[in-house]
Amino acid sequence: MEEARVNPWIDFWNRPNAIYVNQRNVDAHFDCIVRDLREFVPPGGTKVVLDFGCGEAVGASRLADGCATLYLYDAAPAVRDRVRERLAGDRRIKVLDGNGLHHLPAASVDVVLVVSVVQYMARDELSDALRLWHRILKPDGALIIADVIDPATPIHVDVRSQLAFARKNGFLVAALGGLVRMFFSNYRDLRNRAGFAMYRQEEMLGMLRSGGFEGTVLPRNIGPGAHRKAFRARKLTKQARAAAE
Ligand SMILES: C[S@@+](CC[C@H](N)C(=O)[O-])C[C@H]1O[C@@H](n2cnc3c(N)ncnc32)[C@H](O)[C@@H]1O
Repeated sequence: MEEARVNPWIDFWNRPNAIYVNQRNVDAHFDCIVRDLREFVPPGGTKVVLDFGCGEAVGASRLADGCATLYLYDAAPAVRDRVRERLAGDRRIKVLDGNGLHHLPAASVDVVLVVSVVQYMARDELSDALRLWHRILKPDGALIIADVIDPATPIHVDVRSQLAFARKNGFLVAALGGLVRMFFSNYRDLRNRAGFAMYRQEEMLGMLRSGGFEGTVLPRNIGPGAHRKAFRARKLTKQARAAAE
């Protein structure tokens, strides 16, 4: 899998953007993610974890409390540089570029986390990534794909969920301003131009199966969007894979 530089979304994430409306939003978002991820990476553990599409990774040190090694990868070089600089003192954490990602040894990772990323990946990119995750995961490893959006989701459900999260965490006014800015920003334009991948539950389970995984739908999403879906997948055995083909 080549580094996803050709995807226009990477340029979007590589530049300053207004996805988070203020610091309170950033903190509340990553507090929520870290809390939700404890189920898969409990503190005190010694797992080897890859956070794929880690973004600003504000919760990385807390997540690393459950890891022998936490690998962080993001396709946007500016994001990686910021994260690398901020977390340089934490020896449990390794920030990878595309080359480092592709050189991870086979069957060396316990958990791959992909939270709020697949919507920015073209389907063939996701297929390539599934091959990579399949190679690097241990036989009993887990792939967690979260924040997957069903194409039937009305826009007001997403908006209501964002505003409810903002109200609960004390940044409602800023969030309302952020929605107005978003409406006039290049994010909407980019969604139309570059695509915004959404999957029905069965479609995602099908993608996982084609990538050699047996997937299940988790009872709750990871992160603030309760209406979005999360999936846990395990590698199919060779026999099960052959039987499925
Ligand atoms: C919405 S943020 C999610 C960040 C973090 N996972 C979270 O849940 O807060 C999406 C991130 O995915 C990254 N990304 C988008 N497309 C990617 C791809 N094809 N490969 C790896 N990272 C990607 C972006 O650069 C961005 O930092």
